[in-house]
Amino acid sequence: MNDLNRQWVLAKEAYGEGMCLPEDCFGYNEAGIPESGEGEILVRNVYFACEPAVHAMVRGVPGRIDPLPVGSVMRGSAAGVVVESNHPDYQAGELVNGSFEWADYTVMGGTDPRGNPVNKLITGYPMASAMTTLGMSGVCAYIGMFRIGKPVPGDTVVVSAAAGGIGSIAGQLAKLSGARVIGITSSAEKARRLVEEVGYDDAIDYRGEDLVGRLAELAPEGVNVFFDNAGGPILDAVLVNLANWGRIAICGGASSYQNPDVGVKSHMLLAQRNGLMRGFWLFDNADIIPEALARIGRWHKAGLIKDVLDIAEGFEAVPRAARGIFDGANMGKQLVRISDDPTA
Ligand SMILES: NC(=O)c1ccc[n+]([C@@H]2O[C@H](COP(=O)([O-])OP(=O)(O)OC[C@H]3O[C@@H](n4cnc5c(N)ncnc54)[C@H](OP(=O)(O)O)[C@@H]3O)[C@@H](O)[C@H]2O)c1
Repeated sequence: MNDLNRQWVLAKEAYGEGMCLPEDCFGYNEAGIPESGEGEILVRNVYFACEPAVHAMVRGVPGRIDPLPVGSVMRGSAAGVVVESNHPDYQAGELVNGSFEWADYTVMGGTDPRGNPVNKLITGYPMASAMTTLGMSGVCAYIGMFRIGKPVPGDTVVVSAAAGGIGSIAGQLAKLSGARVIGITSSAEKARRLVEEVGYDDAIDYRGEDLVGRLAELAPEGVNVFFDNAGGPILDAVLVNLANWGRIAICGGASSYQNPDVGVKSHMLLAQRNGLMRGFWLFDNADIIPEALARIGRWHKAGLIKDVLDIAEGFEAVPRAARGIFDGANMGKQLVRISDDPTA
């Protein structure tokens, strides 16, 4: 254990079009290693997960994810190793994940500042799989696909941000249901990789192609299930192509995170097509987590679901990688490894 605790600190709020995690919104800081008090654990952070939620923390607008005060050490989904425990439920050496500081080390009680638990990673898997496919990404994909979308064999399923952390698993779950699966992503290269590497039947580059027209060609009978991570014009294009009795699961709305004016115009089509559109929030669906992890674990062990990961290296890479997901730079879940992975 070295004696330095590198940190990324929120230097200023950033909200509005073109303001997505600009370089000067994070500042570098060095501090001493924090000490764990009674009922606390000291965690050596290994992986940070780059997630759109980071944007909510820097934008100064209250919501389900509260903004951080300027000057705070940034936080985000991460996984690490317990190096010291003064908490009866955790032992040194255990692998845990939760919302940790963007720092080499984090001190936590049994919950994060939002009251969510510090989870023990599922054992028997590499850490990066356990915190993604067998963690939050897999569970979100499972909730949206099976609690809301409920695809059946022969359905056409569409997934937006299809190459992302949650999207890449949602697409694989839909394939396991016997559906035909179309991914939407931001480049021709990512579209090619979705088909060749992740197993989508087709993929559309929404920036380079006419999305409404391509969906009509690829889903002539309409879209039965849409798993949406994007919102805005992408959601509109799918609504236009929605099948009668179609189901839409709203997981996220990445298109509006930088631009508060992005909206949806075609919602009346839900009435005309008997459509169901429902959102979900992971932490309010905790009852389904054991089922989701058991089934995803079985499929993963059988080689029916694979990890789609994009791993950057080094503490200095964290702000750049976090910004990159808003430019579509990631192919799979964007992680940054900042220290030795004991499972690698
Ligand atoms: N409901 C919940 O409980 C819950 C929990 C966690 C996360 N989420 C949401 O789930 C979604 C996926 O999260 P993730 O962590 O797996 O992230 P991710 O999909 O790995 O990364 C975000 C993706 O969003 C797409 N994107 C970025 N800017 C966009 C824009 N302006 N328009 C359209 N697409 C854009 C990009 O994909 P392409 O390059 O492929 O377009 C990017 O890769 C996010 O919206 C997140 O907020 C919801």
